[in-house]
Order: sequence, then C-alpha cells, then structure tokens
Amino acid sequence: MMQTMQIARIHLAPFRSHVLNRFQPLVLISLILVLVLTIASFGELSQRSDEAFSDPGSVQRPIRAVVFPPSSADGVAPDPRERAEPADVTPEAGLTDEAGLTDGAGLTGATGLTYVGRKVCGECHRENFAAHAHHGHASTFFEVADTDLPQIFAGETFDGGPQYGIYSYQRDAEGNLIAKLDGPEPPASLMLQYALGSGFNAQTFLTLQATPGGETTAIEHRVSCYAGDRLGLTVGHEEKTPDSAAERFGSPLQGEVLERCVYCHTTTATIRQGHIADLTPNVDCEKCHGPGSEHVRSARLSPKPAPYSVGMETWDRESELQLCGDCHRLPRSISKLELRDYPDTLVRFQPVGMLRSKCYLKSEQSLRCTTCHSPHVSHHGPDEMSRQIKNCIQCHDQTQSSHVICPVSPQTDCIDCHMPAIDQKQGIKFHDHWIRVRD
Ligand code: HEC
Ligand code: HEC
Ligand code: HEC
Ligand code: HEC
Ligand code: HEC
Ligand code: HEC
Ligand code: HEC
Repeated sequence: MMQTMQIARIHLAPFRSHVLNRFQPLVLISLILVLVLTIASFGELSQRSDEAFSDPGSVQRPIRAVVFPPSSADGVAPDPRERAEPADVTPEAGLTDEAGLTDGAGLTGATGLTYVGRKVCGECHRENFAAHAHHGHASTFFEVADTDLPQIFAGETFDGGPQYGIYSYQRDAEGNLIAKLDGPEPPASLMLQYALGSGFNAQTFLTLQATPGGETTAIEHRVSCYAGDRLGLTVGHEEKTPDSAAERFGSPLQGEVLERCVYCHTTTATIRQGHIADLTPNVDCEKCHGPGSEHVRSARLSPKPAPYSVGMETWDRESELQLCGDCHRLPRSISKLELRDYPDTLVRFQPVGMLRSKCYLKSEQSLRCTTCHSPHVSHHGPDEMSRQIKNCIQCHDQTQSSHVICPVSPQTDCIDCHMPAIDQKQGIKFHDHWIRVRD
C-alpha cells in the first residue's frame, strides 16, 4: 500500500492553440467573479458577532454525527451571544489553550504558529464554516465513545472466518465499545478506540497499544461499519490470516503506516506510547490552511489582514494538486504496475485519474480539483449532478465553435458515460476521474 516508487512521468500532449484562446474570456470572467465574491464576503464578514452564531455540528446521516457535549461544559467557544463586540475582543482572545476547542487547539505547529480550532475561523468565515461542517472532511476521525457506534454494535456478533472466530460486541459502563473473541489465548477482548471515515462509505476501527519499549502499535480491526449500519469485513482483510492472538482482531499497524493513517484523517495528532496526544480530529480548516493564530490576530486588528497560507498571491494549481493529492494520493504513492494497468481499485485515487485525462493534459493543465469541487462544499449535495454537468460544459459548450463537443449527448448525463461510478468491494463506489471515451 505504501509503496514509494518513482512517478512514471506523464507526457504532456502538444498544446493546441484554440484551447488557449478560449481561456482568455475565462480569465476575465474569473477576475470579475473574484471581485464580486470579495465584496460579497466582506458583507458576510462585517456581520460577525452580532447574530447568533451556531455550530451546525457535524453532518447528519448518512455521514455519522458526533455527539457534541454541551458547549458551556467543555470550554468549547463561548456562546456568541455572550461574546463581546469585536472592538472589545483582544486580538489574542480565544487563541490560547484555555478556550481550546479540542486537545490540539493551542498547539504550536512547525512554523511557530498556533492552531486555533475551526470554531474561531467560523466567527468570521461563516459560510465556509457552515458548508465545511457538512463535508466528509469534517467527519474523518472519531473517538468511538463519542459516536452512536457502541449502540449499533452492542449485542451484535460477526463471524470473522475459520482462523479468526466469532466476534461479539458489548458496550461497557463508560460507553466504550468492546469486541470479544472466544479462544484459549489472550487477549479475549479489545476496546475499539477510534473510528476512521465518515460512515458515508464506511468506518474502520483502530485500537492503539504501547509496546514494552515505549513504541506504539495498533490493530486495524477486521470488522468495519458500512453504510446503513451494516457490519462487514474491512476492505483488504479478505485474504489475510492471523499470525498471533492479537491479530485475530485485525491487522497490526506501526511506524510510518500508522502515522500516515492518523495524519490523513486528522488536523493535529501526535502518537505517543499507545495513545494520541494533541488531537484535533478531522480534516479541518487549519489542515489545509495551516495554523491560524497570526491570521486571526491580524484580522481582528484590521479588515484587510495580510495574505494567509492559501493566499491569492501564492496559490496556484500546482500547490492545490499537492494539497489534495497529499491525501487523495498522487501517482508517486502508486506502483508503476498499477499506474500502467490502471486497475479499478485506482479510481479511489482521483488525482491519478485526473492527471491522465485529456481534459487536464490538453487544457494547458488548467483542470484542477477545485474546477469541479469547492474545497468547502460536500459533493453529497442534492444538485450535485447538474452542477457537475455545468463544470463539463465550461469547456465543452456547443455554442462555442472552438470547443470539442460530444457527438452523442452534448448537454446531459456526461458523468454517467465519461466518469462512471465503479464498484469497489463492500458496495462502495468511486467515480473514475480518468475522463475519457470508454469502450
Ligand atoms: C494518504 C492518506 C490516507 C491514508 C494513509 C489513509 N487514508 Fe483513509 N482515506 C483517505 C481519503 C482521501 C479517503 C477518502 C476516499 C474518497 O472518498 O475518495 C479515505 C477514506 C477512508 C475511509 C472511508 C471508506 C472509504 O474507503 O472511502 C476509511 C474507513 C478509512 N479511510 C480508513 C483508513 C484507515 C483505517 C487508515 C490507516 C490504516 C487510512 N484510512 C489511511 C486518506 C487516507
Ligand atoms: C480540504 C482543504 C480545505 C479545508 C478543509 C478548508 N479549506 Fe478553505 N480553501 C481551500 C482552498 C484550496 C482554497 C482556495 C480556493 C480557490 O482558490 O478556489 C480555500 C479558500 C478559502 C478562503 C478564501 C476563498 C473563499 O472561499 O472565501 C477562505 C476564507 C477559506 N478557505 C476558509 C476556510 C475555513 C474557515 C475553513 C474551515 C471551516 C476551510 N477554509 C477549510 C482549502 C480548504
Ligand atoms: C476576526 C475575523 C477572522 C477570523 C477569526 C478568521 N479570518 Fe480569515 N479572513 C478574515 C478577513 C477579514 C479576510 C480578508 C478577506 C478579504 O480580503 O476578502 C480573511 C481571509 C482569509 C483567507 C483568504 C486568503 C487571503 O489571505 O486572502 C483564508 C484562506 C482565511 N481567511 C482562512 C481563515 C481560517 C482558516 C481561519 C481560522 C484559523 C480564519 N480565516 C479566521 C477574517 C478572519
Ligand atoms: C488531510 C487529508 C485530506 C486532504 C488534504 C484533502 N482531503 Fe478530501 N478527503 C479526505 C478524507 C479522509 C475523506 C473521506 C471522508 C469520508 O470518510 O467520507 C475525504 C473526502 C473528500 C471528498 C468526498 C466527501 C464529500 O463530502 O464531498 C471530496 C470531494 C474531497 N475529499 C475533495 C478534496 C479536495 C478537492 C481537496 C483539496 C482541496 C481535498 N479533498 C483535500 C482527506 C483529505
Ligand atoms: C471535471 C470535474 C472533476 C474534477 C476536475 C475532479 N472531480 Fe472529483 N468528482 C467529480 C464528479 C462528477 C464526482 C461524482 C459526483 C457525485 O457523485 O456527486 C466526483 C467525486 C469525487 C469524490 C467522491 C468519491 C468518488 O470518487 O466518487 C472525491 C473524493 C473527489 N471527487 C475528489 C477529487 C479530487 C481530489 C480531485 C482533484 C485531483 C477531483 N476530484 C477532481 C468531478 C471532478
Ligand atoms: C478545463 C476545461 C475542461 C473541463 C472542465 C472538462 N474538459 Fe473534457 N476536455 C478538455 C480538453 C481541452 C479536451 C481535449 C479536446 C481535444 O482537443 O481533443 C477534453 C477532452 C474530453 C474528452 C475526450 C477524451 C478522450 O480521451 O478522447 C471527453 C470524453 C471529455 N473531455 C469529457 C469531459 C467531461 C465529461 C467533463 C466534466 C466532468 C469535462 N470533460 C470537463 C477540457 C475540459
Ligand atoms: C450516452 C453516453 C454519453 C453521454 C451521456 C455523453 N457522452 Fe460524450 N461521448 C460519448 C461517446 C460514445 C463518445 C465517442 C464518440 C465517437 O468517437 O464517435 C463521446 C465523445 C465525447 C467527447 C470527445 C469528442 C471528440 O470529438 O473528440 C467529448 C469532449 C465528450 N464526449 C464530452 C461529453 C460531455 C461534456 C457530456 C455531457 C454534456 C457528454 N460527453 C455526454 C458518450 C457519451
């Protein structure tokens, strides 16, 4: 899985001049759009703190909801109705650990800046905050006891197969979920500590343990929870056999594999002797934008803060591809054989498909993830398909003579034929981002 082979360089197709021409109007339109959006977002920003500010919390089903403790009890951002007017707020307010939203808020990052937590961002960027709460990114990592998973599993059994045995699940007095396994050798039971994934497709469990040497190992459990609260074998575990008693619960993970697994699903986390310190779960604002303390300080002092990490001046398609590809995977993390053969399992790795599409190669590589996905708005929305077709039409518009047009269906259903959803194991589907004319 974690192969580090060299990237097979994708050759860039010769660039066609009509493609360039048709992007000039686009540049103009984008500039106007940026202007309009800037004005609009200022309207949004200036309203801060005078309206009730509510956290929509995490998303509803099919993405699993976190049960948030009441905000006054756990030191989550103070009720905005009790919050002072902006003029009275010192630039540092809410940026220290006392007002910390999660264990990780208040943590100082590698750059010397401090993480403030997504709620602080939400004070000013309400729209992005509200949209992000409904994105899968806001639900990638849970402490199992904070979810309804113990209720779903309690009393259930699951047959793990001949060399594994039958798991039975119980909820203990503290609300933890425990997996039990009959057999002569310990351990006879393990607590399911963390759940990764939003539950839209699946949630997979991890149990961390300290080794006698002070290192950390983990078990990735053999049973996951799939959409519709269905228990099933974790993808990738089908062909496995256990090498030890502990492995009857699942696959052992350690070192870099464990670190990357936690890294991709959290904003801040330090694995330390069998537990996770400084935890800010999920892919929050500051995972993509970087620690926000300086930005917040300067935004509280002036309506025109200095450019921030994803600032307009330095942000380009290359940095975006690196950002999204860091987790959604770039060709460098995939073997040459897989890249060449492009098996169906590769459709999980959207950047790999996109990078070999003619839409990318022949548009001066202007196609990027945010051409079709807002970084803040979930693709699970109701109008998603019509939005997606509009994205295709930007470049394949039959009213534009320079565009290459579909001879089969120039206005509808593009995704069904050119980016179909491909079945993976356990009923999960991914859309093939290698946009092409298929056989
Ligand atoms: C390189 C980053 C990366 C690593 C490492 C990683 N994940 Fe993920 N994971 C993702 C991304 C990105 C998705 C979203 C897949 C999608 O929707 O395209 C995801 C989705 C999931 C899902 C939802 C179900 C699914 O298949 O989409 C589960 C469950 C999950 N990961 C568990 C894990 C576990 C457990 C580990 C470690 C053993 C792990 N992941 C390691 C990036 C990563
Ligand atoms: C998955 C990565 C990611 C996450 C998570 C994320 N952003 Fe962004 N954000 C981006 C990218 C990329 C851009 C640049 C978008 C562009 O150029 O179209 C951006 C742009 C912005 C902008 C400027 C443009 C705009 O949309 O107003 C603001 C403000 C912003 N993000 C705030 C937030 C806040 C607040 C959160 C958390 C609630 C958040 N972001 C979460 C990636 C992310
Ligand atoms: C006190 C209000 C305030 C808070 C809190 C705040 N911002 Fe901003 N943010 C602003 C203002 C004002 C701008 C400039 C808007 C503009 O120029 O259109 C801005 C701009 C941005 C931009 C656009 C990039 C740029 O430099 O132009 C991003 C991205 C962003 N903020 C992300 C965040 C994130 C992430 C957080 C939380 C860590 C956050 N902001 C917290 C007020 C705030
Ligand atoms: C830190 C890792 C990470 C980064 C960076 C990241 N993602 Fe994700 N992304 C995930 C994980 C994990 C999931 C799985 C959520 C789930 O289980 O449903 C996901 C899910 C998604 C989804 C499907 C869920 C939804 O609600 O729409 C989209 C679309 C997506 N990411 C796009 C992007 C884009 C575009 C970028 C870059 C701007 C990006 N991601 C950056 C980790 C990441
Ligand atoms: C040309 C448009 C387009 C581009 C560019 C694009 N996507 Fe998508 N993406 C889609 C469509 C269409 C879907 C399916 C939408 C739906 O089901 O609502 C999708 C779905 C997804 C999903 C959900 C899981 C899946 O595969 O069905 C993720 C995650 C995702 N895209 C990530 C990315 C990332 C990361 C990039 C950049 C490398 C990217 N996409 C670029 C059109 C695009
Ligand atoms: C940024 C512009 C852009 C966007 C957005 C875009 N395309 Fe393309 N697409 C192109 C270009 C340029 C070509 C190459 C046309 C040529 O010169 O042959 C192309 C080629 C294609 C081809 C032919 C591929 C082949 O292998 O023969 C298909 C099919 C296609 N696009 C479908 C789509 C669909 C479906 C969408 C939306 C999901 C989409 N495109 C979005 C620019 C784009
Ligand atoms: C019913 C399936 C179907 C649908 C729906 C469909 N296409 Fe196609 N498309 C095809 C087929 C088949 C071809 C190859 C036709 C050929 O080579 O004669 C094609 C070819 C193309 C080409 C390449 C044309 C060329 O001259 O190289 C583009 C671009 C394209 N489609 C874009 C789109 C877009 C955009 C949409 C949605 C508005 C769309 N298609 C909807 C089946 C479809």
